Amino acid sequence: MTRPLILMTDPKWFDVAYEINPWMRPGVWRADAARHLRAARTAFDALVAALKTASAAVEVIDGAQGLPDMVFAANAAVVLDRRVLVGRFRPTERRGEEALYLTAFKALKKRGLVGEVAQIAPGLFQEGAGDAIWDARRGHFWTGFGQRSDRAASDAIAAFFGREVVPLELASPRFYHLDTCFCPLSGGEVLYYPPAFTPDALTEIRARVPASQLIEASDADAAGLCVNAVSIGETVIMARPPARLRRALEARGYRVAAVDLSPFILAGGAAFCLTLRLDHASPPALAETAAA
Ligand code: ARG
Repeated sequence: MTRPLILMTDPKWFDVAYEINPWMRPGVWRADAARHLRAARTAFDALVAALKTASAAVEVIDGAQGLPDMVFAANAAVVLDRRVLVGRFRPTERRGEEALYLTAFKALKKRGLVGEVAQIAPGLFQEGAGDAIWDARRGHFWTGFGQRSDRAASDAIAAFFGREVVPLELASPRFYHLDTCFCPLSGGEVLYYPPAFTPDALTEIRARVPASQLIEASDADAAGLCVNAVSIGETVIMARPPARLRRALEARGYRVAAVDLSPFILAGGAAFCLTLRLDHASPPALAETAAA
């Protein structure tokens, strides 16, 4: 495995200042903002440490005043084969992030960490890897639509990357990004929360992932945003899980690295949301393999 490379955004300007998803608690935040911000810094540092322990390299860019959700780097772009497709936010509150992430990716390109940088066509909403998850085992994207990202954005992703995309319709505002309810693990299992999906989406998931590889998250797992996890090798990094979920993952040979991410859960985000993998690479196409 090549070393995972992860982009994160410094939490200096993190805040829960508005409500664009049902998790967000601006009142709770405001009641003790200084303490929550300190806790967010501690949580962020603990997540960085857990990622590094799991062998990842972490690049941290600056956030910006007035863009409190910019800390959720997963939403900025979809990245595969060093090509970056910057998204477009549905909530007006987050649109200011697009230009800043474009600038940041161009700076990463200058340093050779990514290649081409483009933005998805105007008129499409697409919230980055939060709604476009690369399944390294299966060699395709799973995309979420129906809450924040548009269905048509899936076609744009397929066209840009030249890879298969499997769109899944999200049924609940509480699970507004695919990464809140769906997590492919490095060994091929998929941790998912069935109530977050439409019947068609569930049919699609179950057609593509054998039952033996499907791990159902409970209501408590989903409520703790534990499905919003980062899978690196045998390590799964997630917000503090209920014991049953930890045991289920350990029984399959994973090591669970639990991080207290409660300040970010007040904004509706956890481990996966705070990270953006820059190193995902697609396998060589079957034709190329045959020719080689
Ligand atoms: N408050 C942020 C929003 O609603 C949270 C984003 C969490 N990110 C994620 N990939 N689920 O946009």
